Amino acid sequence: MSRSAHPAGPRHADVLHEGHYAAPPADLNALDEKVWSRTVTRDADGALTVGGIGVARLAEEFGTPAYFLDESDFRARCRAWSDAFGGDADVFYAGKAFLSRAVVRWLQEEGLNLDVCSGGELTTALDAGMPAERIAFHGNNKSLAEIERAVGLGVGRIVLDSFQEIVRVAGAAQRLGRRQRVQIRVTVGVEAHTHEFIATAHEDQKFGIALAGGQAAEAVRRTLTLDSLELIGIHSHIGSQIFDMAGFEVSARRVVQLLAEVRDEHGVELPEIDLGGGLGIAYTSDDDPREPHEIAKALSDIVTRECEASGLATPRISVEPGRAIVGPTAFTLYEVGTIKPLEGLRTYVSVDGGMSDNIRTALYDAEYSVALVSRTSDAEPMLVRVVGKHCESGDIVVKDAFLPADLAPGDLIAVPATGAYCRSMASNYNHSLRPPVVAVRDGEARVIVRRETEEDLLSLDVG
Ligand code: LLP
Repeated sequence: MSRSAHPAGPRHADVLHEGHYAAPPADLNALDEKVWSRTVTRDADGALTVGGIGVARLAEEFGTPAYFLDESDFRARCRAWSDAFGGDADVFYAGKAFLSRAVVRWLQEEGLNLDVCSGGELTTALDAGMPAERIAFHGNNKSLAEIERAVGLGVGRIVLDSFQEIVRVAGAAQRLGRRQRVQIRVTVGVEAHTHEFIATAHEDQKFGIALAGGQAAEAVRRTLTLDSLELIGIHSHIGSQIFDMAGFEVSARRVVQLLAEVRDEHGVELPEIDLGGGLGIAYTSDDDPREPHEIAKALSDIVTRECEASGLATPRISVEPGRAIVGPTAFTLYEVGTIKPLEGLRTYVSVDGGMSDNIRTALYDAEYSVALVSRTSDAEPMLVRVVGKHCESGDIVVKDAFLPADLAPGDLIAVPATGAYCRSMASNYNHSLRPPVVAVRDGEARVIVRRETEEDLLSLDVG
């Protein structure tokens, strides 16, 4: 078959898939702290508050749909990651999860570094004052202009992703009279247990240079011959939304093996290894993520053990969490528009956003939770599918969940854990206006990314 397609409805409107909540939760009004940001609670009237502010006020002031980001939670998670790894490791926040100038400033204040993967992310970082030497530049097809700019600015490291890029970065550094610090991204042959589109270290995909067949060793060989490059280490990122540490262990072991081969062949001990990001978060109560200190301990134990076995000094470790820092810190607030009970199936609840503010459900079959947040309710649970307002039957925000049966148009519902890869992957599909991101902290709320306007749309359309 030269192409595959699925008809508009059936793939999404199928019977309940395996692993979904078989039964409604015991208490529909409860807010599971695993999936909600840390300052979220219900006030005396039962309405959800974040950073001390109630959702009714937030909806009135900022409109819906909107993302509300719990700033103190974001900062606490940054600190938890850097404390967990201590002074012997570097934490690079992966900006692709969500990046704005305010976020860049918080990262600096909390002592984190930043991973960017495009000229746009680089511009945002620099504009908000992130020092270039604290930036890592990623991407499997960086343009020549992006490379020249990154080298010219003196970014702390460029992660080389292909043989062509070794030559391109070396050329740019030579032209600019610089010696650029680089890492080589390798694919270690680990099949991470996650969705195919977000697994990145098995061999049949576009990122990195394979350890298999001596490819990565050859990349090291070539890089070491180029005077304008300083090879500081090896990089591996195995995928996203991963709970099982086994994949990281195999990855760390294989990267250390490569370091040992490099020492044996070239007499050089590379000083760093980067184990990437990809740590999972709780989207529903069924998910059980690991804490940063457990992850740090597991990773540093394995690296130390493997290095001792190979007689290598332990390299400095870096990690690149994106989702694990920002994901749990935000929720999306929607207003209920229409409610359509489908006899014997489920009730479709349409909200004022959809796949334009959260593409993850349509793209990865991602699971989310949802709660009625403008009030509590004692009504019976009803099985719902929360859908958006786009012209697409796959426009689903939450596939299967329970909401109270007295849900009514005008109620506010919220989807937690939307801090990562929701605003950053948002689109203007159907000429919708991308929602704002509002940071909430200690009783104050401020817009950090404003809502798009129709003027924004028209300003790009030059007629
Ligand atoms: N480092 C590298 C080299 C990466 O490619 C990524 C993510 C990260 C770090 C951060 O991964 P995290 O800790 O956030 O999982 N859009 C997908 C995820 C794609 C991630 C791409 N790279 C999603 O919504 O699940």
